[in-house]
Amino acid sequence: MREILIKGQLNKFKTFQEFAEEFQLGSEDLILTNAFIYKPFMADLNLKCQVVFQESFGAGEPSEEMITEIFKAVKPETFERIVAVGGGAIMDIGKVLSLKRTGSVHDLYFKKAEVVPEKELIAIPTTCGTGSEVTNISVAIVRDDNGNTTKLGLVSDLLIPSSVCLIPEMLKTLPYAPFASSAIDALIHAVESYLSPSRATMTSELYGVKAMELILEGFRRIREGGEEARFNYLDEFVTAACYAGIAFLQAGCATVHAMSFPLGGTYHVPHGESNYALFGKVLEKYDAAQPEGKIMEFKQTIAGILGGTAEDAIGNLNKLLETILHLKPLREYGFKEEDIETFADSVLENQQRLVVNSYVPLTKALIKEIYAECL
Ligand SMILES: NC(=O)c1ccc[n+]([C@@H]2O[C@H](COP(=O)([O-])OP(=O)(O)OC[C@H]3O[C@@H](n4cnc5c(N)ncnc54)[C@H](O)[C@@H]3O)[C@@H](O)[C@H]2O)c1
Ligand SMILES: [Fe+2]
Repeated sequence: MREILIKGQLNKFKTFQEFAEEFQLGSEDLILTNAFIYKPFMADLNLKCQVVFQESFGAGEPSEEMITEIFKAVKPETFERIVAVGGGAIMDIGKVLSLKRTGSVHDLYFKKAEVVPEKELIAIPTTCGTGSEVTNISVAIVRDDNGNTTKLGLVSDLLIPSSVCLIPEMLKTLPYAPFASSAIDALIHAVESYLSPSRATMTSELYGVKAMELILEGFRRIREGGEEARFNYLDEFVTAACYAGIAFLQAGCATVHAMSFPLGGTYHVPHGESNYALFGKVLEKYDAAQPEGKIMEFKQTIAGILGGTAEDAIGNLNKLLETILHLKPLREYGFKEEDIETFADSVLENQQRLVVNSYVPLTKALIKEIYAECL
């Protein structure tokens, strides 16, 4: 069995300028970003690159409509390399843009068009969440055959960016709310991959545990020193998110992500936040169903990081997370009782790649129970 896949070259730079010089950015390059990231970090550098702002094509997380509009506006013959500078949304769009256009965007996400790489992709994360810079997934909001919107991952190792550049200063402008939800997303990547029953390896565990240590130490600092405490720890946060990405690329995400996708797709809840809404409950259910397995080691690991006993570890973890981001019931996002049934069906129909990594068999009854108890 494969121990780990780290495909892109990993780099770290102090500033965007240092990166631009090292990679000799020029007229053959296309920068995909947001205007509010471009202005403070790139506008003064007199770059010759073509620049595309995601927000010109719609707000929020990538959807098949948004990417289709970007395809229409950005012609492949006008660039050789893509530099995706942004959160998971930007990096995921960059991945699809790096492909040969073998079919419609819908066909690509529904695996009806072939994935053929065409352009070199350089990924620069400006959040500390998705790990998309090292993963083989691009996620978009799509409409399935039943007309329901959900989020779907296009998965192929051919999507992994060839270069990853971590530039911690890019996170300085990230407001606290998306910072917190992205950092929790990264923590969930580390935990889901650690508990992945058949795909976790010794090496993925190494990256996952290190990510948990770094993120939880950062959260502890924020609990003690307030939101501002993150600014002295941005390098660790962006590195931890990358480590968690490496871990879940090997071991996979699971129940939390599977159940969060219909929620995010339907009610446009930010990715990290919709995961967080389910995370604590999923851990509780895992622990109740199979307390003696890997979850015991997980609780010991968390106790080793946070202090306290293994028995109290999940409770202590949830308490720490509450100080970082307030946990809301699903109904505050618009979720209704009748969604329990349709979302459970959607999870089983559309998210099998995640369902199979669940720590305990993920039955429809269990999915419904978790949604109902988070309502
Ligand atoms: N490909 C993967 O492996 C993978 C894994 C998990 C999630 N995802 C996807 O990634 C997306 C979530 O990514 P995310 O959590 O990074 O959020 P995001 O990309 O949606 O960004 C969150 C918000 O912060 C803003 N922002 C980002 N960086 C900023 C900065 N430096 N300064 C100011 N504002 C900034 C964005 O414009 C956005 O409004 C979702 O679409 C999710 O489905 C992908
Ligand atoms: Fe995620």
